[in-house]
Amino acid sequence: MKAVVYNKKNNPEKLVFCDTDQPVPNDNEVLIKVHAVSLNAADYRSLNMGLIPKRKIFGADIAGRIESVGINISSFKPGDEVIGDLSNYGFGGLAEYVTALEKALVIKPDMVSFEEGAALPMASMTALQALRNKARIQKGDKVLIVGCSGGVGTFAIQLARYFEAHVTGVCSLKNVQQSISIGAYHVIDYKVDDFTEMKERYKIILGINGNYPLLEYRKTLAPGGTYVMFGGSLSQIFKSLALGWILSSGSKKMTSLAAKTNKTDLEFLASHAQKGIIKPVIDRRYTPEQAAEAMRYIEQGHSAGKVVISIP
Ligand SMILES: NC(=O)c1ccc[n+]([C@@H]2O[C@H](COP(=O)([O-])OP(=O)(O)OC[C@H]3O[C@@H](n4cnc5c(N)ncnc54)[C@H](OP(=O)(O)O)[C@@H]3O)[C@@H](O)[C@H]2O)c1
Repeated sequence: MKAVVYNKKNNPEKLVFCDTDQPVPNDNEVLIKVHAVSLNAADYRSLNMGLIPKRKIFGADIAGRIESVGINISSFKPGDEVIGDLSNYGFGGLAEYVTALEKALVIKPDMVSFEEGAALPMASMTALQALRNKARIQKGDKVLIVGCSGGVGTFAIQLARYFEAHVTGVCSLKNVQQSISIGAYHVIDYKVDDFTEMKERYKIILGINGNYPLLEYRKTLAPGGTYVMFGGSLSQIFKSLALGWILSSGSKKMTSLAAKTNKTDLEFLASHAQKGIIKPVIDRRYTPEQAAEAMRYIEQGHSAGKVVISIP
């Protein structure tokens, strides 16, 4: 089969679309013909840190059609269209074929294309777990989403609206209209205004991107509010992990999220995509030959939605 394989020696960009062995599913796995893959920070961060998947193939968020199933598989059959997040199971999605466990997959909603389906898993699960599990979002909550227009942010806006919250986003001017069109009431252009210097206080702040001091986030929380850090620069992430608990004294909570692949959550999100309640926003589409370019693009931290690679 063809796949985008990590190859440090033969390409300065390390990712080469070439022939490689097709994976063989074991009794507990299905074999999927991959149609589309979306990239996440998990891909480029692993690549940069030298954490190379066993099969040397990146790509966790996949959409495709089941080709064959192992004898212990009961919930899928050949021909089923599926989506899944393989980040906890060895990646491998940037290929014509990938094997996966049942627990990583759900049926693709008919209403979404393979590309939209591939855009869904990791980013939408992260947004859901941040809002619902960490911040315990309630109807009417004022929510500030810092980095609202990227892969995670576009789902966070739509999910916060689904939970009937009042959403303010932070991004740059080029993405303001898009953020409003998917549900933000108000958007702050971070190049013009600094939300930490405004009077507004929020019940929930999601720190997806941007490097603001933790004390400024804390100041911007309403009493009883929760800040959830889960993205941005590595230094911001480490600071939140190290200092968050200290700053959580009083009624304000400063937390961080390590999102987990969860089949029930993915089923919930797929059913809401089927109903049109959430719609994956795709910024750019690339070919497998352009995988390195696609990685470079998302690494810049300014994507307007998800970046998808279609597998021919
Ligand atoms: N903890 C976990 O479990 C978990 C899981 C998944 C993802 N993540 C993390 O979540 C982050 C999400 O990534 P993503 O795919 O949504 O894309 P991203 O690249 O982090 O964010 C893109 C968005 O951030 C905005 N942005 C850039 N600089 C900003 C600034 N200074 N202030 C405010 N907004 C700014 C950009 O808007 P403009 O283009 O308008 O500048 C863009 O729309 C990553 O850092 C990733 O590591 C964490």
